[in-house]
Amino acid sequence: MAGYYNDRVVRQFAVATVLWGIVGMLVGVIIAAQLYWPTLGEGIPWLSYGRLRPLHTNAVIFAFGGSALFATSLHVVQRTCHVRLISDKLAAFVFWGWQAVIVSAAITLPLGITQSKEYAELEWPIDILITIVWVAYAVLFFGTIAKRKVKHIYVANWFYGAYIIAIALLHIVNNLALPASLTKSYSAYTGAVDAMAQWWYGHNAVGFFLTAGFLGMMYYYVPKQVQRPIYSYRLSIVHFWALIAVYMWAGPHHLQYTALPDWAQSLGMVFSLILLAPSWGGAINGVMTLSGVWHKLRTDPILKFLIVAISFYMIATFEGPMMSIKTVNSLSHYTDWTVGHVHAGALGWVAMISIGSIYALLPRMLGLKEMYSTKLIDTHFWIHTIGVVFYIASMWIAGVMQGLMWRATNDDGTLTYTFVEALKFTYPYYLGRLFGGLLVLSGMLLMAWNVWKTYQQVKEIAPQPLLPPDVADARA
Ligand code: HEM
Ligand code: HEM
Repeated sequence: MAGYYNDRVVRQFAVATVLWGIVGMLVGVIIAAQLYWPTLGEGIPWLSYGRLRPLHTNAVIFAFGGSALFATSLHVVQRTCHVRLISDKLAAFVFWGWQAVIVSAAITLPLGITQSKEYAELEWPIDILITIVWVAYAVLFFGTIAKRKVKHIYVANWFYGAYIIAIALLHIVNNLALPASLTKSYSAYTGAVDAMAQWWYGHNAVGFFLTAGFLGMMYYYVPKQVQRPIYSYRLSIVHFWALIAVYMWAGPHHLQYTALPDWAQSLGMVFSLILLAPSWGGAINGVMTLSGVWHKLRTDPILKFLIVAISFYMIATFEGPMMSIKTVNSLSHYTDWTVGHVHAGALGWVAMISIGSIYALLPRMLGLKEMYSTKLIDTHFWIHTIGVVFYIASMWIAGVMQGLMWRATNDDGTLTYTFVEALKFTYPYYLGRLFGGLLVLSGMLLMAWNVWKTYQQVKEIAPQPLLPPDVADARA
C-alpha cells in the first residue's frame, strides 16, 4: 500500500477512544455514587471503592487518553511528514498490544492486584508488556519522522516526541521492582526516596502524558479546524523548550509538608510557579490562532470543544501553581479541592481536546466531510461543558470548606469541628459531582451514537493517497 496513508490504525484508536472513554467514565460515575452512597457494592470485593478507583484512573488516563494520543499522533505524523507509517505490522502490534495492556488492567485491578503506586498500580508482568508496546510505538513514530519527505518537523511532532520519550523514562524508572511472584513485587526504592520517585513519575505523567501529547493535538487540530496557521510559530518553539525544561522539577509539590527534605519541597514550589508562564504562553498561542475569525466559534462545535479545552487548561495551570504554594497547599492537600483541580485538567482539558480532535479526524479518515450530525456534536459540547462545571464547582466548594473546617480551632486549642461534621457538609456536593459526571457520560454516549451513524454512511473505506509536500503544505 505504498503511496497511501495507513489510516486503519488511526481509525482503530479513534473508536477505542470513544469506547474506553465510556467505560472509564462509567466507572468514574460508579465511584462518585459510592462516595454518596457508601454501601453501594458492599460485600463484593471487586466492586469495592479501593479497587474501582484505580480502575477508573487507569481506564480514563491510559485507555481513553492513551487511545486518543495514539490515534492523533499516528495521524499527525503521517500528514505532516507526508509519508506512510514505516510498518503496518508494527502499527497493528501497537494497537493490539495496547488493548492487551488495557484488558490486563481491567482484570487485575478489580482482583486487587496492585503495586500500590498511584497511576502505576499495574504489576510487573503488565509493566513489561507496556515497555515492549511503548518501544514499538517509539520506533513507529520516530521511524516515520526519519523517513519524512519534508525537511521541517512540524511542532506538533515535537510535543508528541517529547511525550513518547519522557513516558518511557518515567515508566521504567518508577516501576523498577523485585518480583516476589507473578502478581506481587517490591519497589526498588524505600521511604522518602520511594515517595520522591513516585511523584517525579506522577507529576511528569501529568506533564507529559496528560499535557505534552495533548498540546501536540492542539498544535495540529486547532489550526486545521480554523484553517489558518498557528498564531506564532516562534512562540510554539519557545513554548516547547520552556515547558519540557521546567516540568521535570515540579514533582515535589505533591509532597509538601512530608518527610521529603524542605529544600526539595521549596524547589518544587518555585518550579511550579515558573510553570505558569510556558503553560499560559502555549495556551494563548492556541487561542489566538482564532484571531480575526472568532465568529467561527458560533457555528463550529468542534472548534468550541478545542477552544474551551484550552480555557480549562488555563484554569488548571493557573490553579496548579497556586496550590503548590506551601501555605495554600496546607489548606488544599487531602481535600476535594485537589480532585476538582484534577478534573478541571482531566475532563476540561484532556477529554475536551480529545473529543474535539476525534470529531475532527474521524470523518476525514472515512473519506467524509463531516460527522453524521453536527447538531449532536453541539449538544454533546453543551452537556459536557455543563457537566464539567458541575463537577469542578462542587469539588472546589467542598474542598475549600473541608480545609477550613479541619483546621479551625477553638481558643483552648481543641478542634472546632469533628471530622463527621465536615463530611456532612461535603455530602450535597458529592451529589452535585455525581450529576455532573452523569452529564459527561451521557455526552459520551451521544458521541458513540454519532460515530456509529457516521460509519454507517460509508460503504467502503477508500485508502487516501499521500499528498505531495507542496500541495499538502498549501492546505495546512
Ligand atoms: C464522568 C466523568 C468522571 C467522573 C464522574 C469521575 C469521578 C471520579 C471520582 C469520584 C474520583 C475519586 C475522587 C476521590 O477519591 O475523592 C476520581 C478520581 C480521579 N479521576 Fe475521575 N471522573 C471522571 C472522568 C475522569 C477523566 C476523563 C479523567 C482523566 C482523563 C479522570 C481522572 C481522574 C484522576 C487522575 C483521579 C485521581 C485524583 C486524585 O488522586 O486526586 N477522571 N474521578
Ligand atoms: C502548571 C501546571 C500545574 C501545576 C503547577 C499543578 C500543580 C498541582 C498541585 C500543587 C497539586 C496538588 C498536590 C497535592 O496537594 O497533593 C496537583 C495535583 C494534581 N494535578 Fe496538577 N498542576 C498543574 C496542571 C495540571 C493539569 C493540566 C492536570 C491534568 C491534565 C493536572 C493533574 C493533576 C493531578 C492528576 C493531580 C492529583 C495527583 C494526586 O494526588 O493523585 N495538573 N497539581
